[in-house]
Amino acid sequence: MSLMEKLSTATQAAAQVAPKPLLEARGITKMLGTGANEFQVLKGVDLDLRPGELTLLMGPSGSGKTTLLSILGCILTATAGDLTIADEQAVGRNAEGLADLRRRHVGFVFQSYNLFPTMTALENVMVALDVRSAKVADPYKAAAEALAAVGLSHRANNYPSKLSGGEKQRVAIARSLAGNPSVILADEPTAALDSENGRAVMELLSEVAKDPTRAVLAVTHDHRTLSFADRIIRIEDGRIVADERPGDKVSDDHSADASAAPEYTIRKTDASRRDGTKRYA
Ligand SMILES: Nc1ncnc2c1ncn2[C@@H]1O[C@H](COP(=O)(O)OP(=O)(O)OP(=O)(O)O)[C@@H](O)[C@H]1O
Ligand SMILES: [Mg+2]
Repeated sequence: MSLMEKLSTATQAAAQVAPKPLLEARGITKMLGTGANEFQVLKGVDLDLRPGELTLLMGPSGSGKTTLLSILGCILTATAGDLTIADEQAVGRNAEGLADLRRRHVGFVFQSYNLFPTMTALENVMVALDVRSAKVADPYKAAAEALAAVGLSHRANNYPSKLSGGEKQRVAIARSLAGNPSVILADEPTAALDSENGRAVMELLSEVAKDPTRAVLAVTHDHRTLSFADRIIRIEDGRIVADERPGDKVSDDHSADASAAPEYTIRKTDASRRDGTKRYA
């Protein structure tokens, strides 16, 4: 084999190990407040989201999780730093340009579901297709399929007030998938749910993340969700302090630093946790 062939093979192998990220953030900083109250919420965050992965973002209250998610999802602009989503630059866009990027590439799931109360489950998904200008031949059929995918065909014509919390969140996940965005960002999606519904929602998000064209990032405080993670990132005081894949030793940007090794390292098969909390799986 020639040197060029060997190089080509090595490049292909590397590409298979680490597929190109769907989202790349570099040196993200964010200042909030004004005058004497101004402070830096994010202090230089580097983050890649790879296709086919469910990444959990954990950290204390006030550490900047929601701010980071808002910037990654083009709801908020960073004070400095670079952001690329599905090969498109976010930096330098005006509000309209950012909204366009968000509509085409990002789906959101919130703790409080954020469904329209006057619309049925089906209509809630259909309106998202509309907002995204998704090019589907039959929006009704596409929305019905999205609800079927989250196991809610039988609730299609129910209004949110007639759905359980878990069902509402599943509708919200179906809605986030409308138009097939590359990146799903979920801010504490299980925080308002009981154990059983929380488990079902995390299971669904990990299924959603198995799509090789999609990456899912979910903020969580809930250690019971760890078993669903392909990757766990920890943020403290606006900085990423740990980044690892439970169950394997693949080194990543931050896990290369042994001092940053997270104390919550677990394997997916662990049956017990040292803090004694119950786990879903
Ligand atoms: N619009 C704002 N103006 C000023 N400060 C803000 C604003 N939004 C958030 N903050 C502050 O920025 C810091 C980070 O907030 P953020 O909401 O990102 O934290 P979080 O990690 O999501 O916390 P939690 O776990 O409580 O949701 C907090 O100290 C918060 O009070
Ligand atoms: Mg938050």
